[in-house]
Amino acid sequence: MLLKKILCTLGICSSMFLAACNDSDSGKTNSNSTAQKSLQPIIIQGALPVESEQMASKLSNSTVETFGGWTFWKGTYQGYPVIISKTRMGMSNSAAATAIAIERYKPIAIINQGTSGGHDPDLNVYDIVLGRYTTNIGAFRTPKKAVGEGSNSLEWTEAFDVLPTDESDPEPIAIRKFEADKDLLLAAQRAKTNYSKGRVVEGTIGSADVWNNELDRIAFFHKNYGTSVEEMEAASVAQIASQYKVPFLGVRILSNNITNGGAYDPGTGEACQHYVLDVVVEYMKAKQAALK
Ligand code: 5AD
Repeated sequence: MLLKKILCTLGICSSMFLAACNDSDSGKTNSNSTAQKSLQPIIIQGALPVESEQMASKLSNSTVETFGGWTFWKGTYQGYPVIISKTRMGMSNSAAATAIAIERYKPIAIINQGTSGGHDPDLNVYDIVLGRYTTNIGAFRTPKKAVGEGSNSLEWTEAFDVLPTDESDPEPIAIRKFEADKDLLLAAQRAKTNYSKGRVVEGTIGSADVWNNELDRIAFFHKNYGTSVEEMEAASVAQIASQYKVPFLGVRILSNNITNGGAYDPGTGEACQHYVLDVVVEYMKAKQAALK
C-alpha cells in the first residue's frame, strides 16, 4: 500500500498509526487523521466492570489484551487512540495495571476515574470531583502505645510519605499530594458543559485500601488532608505516573456520601464514564491541534 510505504519512509509507521488508518468510526473526516494517529493513546482506568465496560463498548476497532489479571481494551474513540484499562480494586492492583500500561502502551496521559464516597457534606451523589490533588490516606506512623493501651486512629496525625525525596530517610513524615496535569484539568473543565447529572468541582481525592464508615474519621481527613472524596485507587496510580512522568488526572463521581445521608447509587459508575469520554475528546483535540 502506497500510503503505508510513504508514511514508513517518513518514520511514522507505528502500529497505532496503521491500525487507526483503517478506522471507520464516528463520522470523522479523513482530513485530520494523520495528526490524530500520531498521538500516543490515552489510558482511562476503571476498577470495576461497572466503571470500565461501558467505555470499552464505545471503542471502534477494539481488541482486548490481558496481562496477569488486568484487562486492556485498545481501540479508537472519535478517531483518537484510547485504551480502557480495568484495574480491579485497590492500591496494589491499580499500581500494577498502571506500570504495565505505561511500559506496554507509552501513553500520552492517564485518567483514573470511577466511584467514590463523599468526605465533603456539600457534595451530593452524582457530583464529580476533578482531583486537583490526589493523596494517600492509608499511610501513617502511629503514636507509640504499650500493650493494653489500645488504638485510636484519630490520634494518627503523622502521614507517612511513601515516595520521599530523600530515599535514605526510613521514616519520612509528610502528606504528599500529587498535583493534576494542567492540560488534563483544563480539558475536564471544558467538558463540564455536557454534564447535567450533578456539579463538577475541583478538589482532593484521598485513596487507601479502606472504606471508611466512621464519621469522625472522615471529618479528620476532610479537615487535615482537605479530602473531598475517598476511594481506593487514584493516589496509587498518581504515584506510579509521577515516577514515569506521565500526565495524570483523577476524576471521581460520588456514588455515596454518608456525611449528608447520600445513599449509594450504582448508576453513578456509568455517568462518570460518559463524562470522562468527553474529557478525552477535549484533551486529544487540543493535543492534536498542538501537533499541527
Ligand atoms: N470508600 C472507599 N472506596 C469507595 N469506592 C466507592 N465508594 C467508596 C468509599 N466510600 C470505590 C473504590 C473501590 C470500590 C470499592 O469502589 O475505589 O474500587
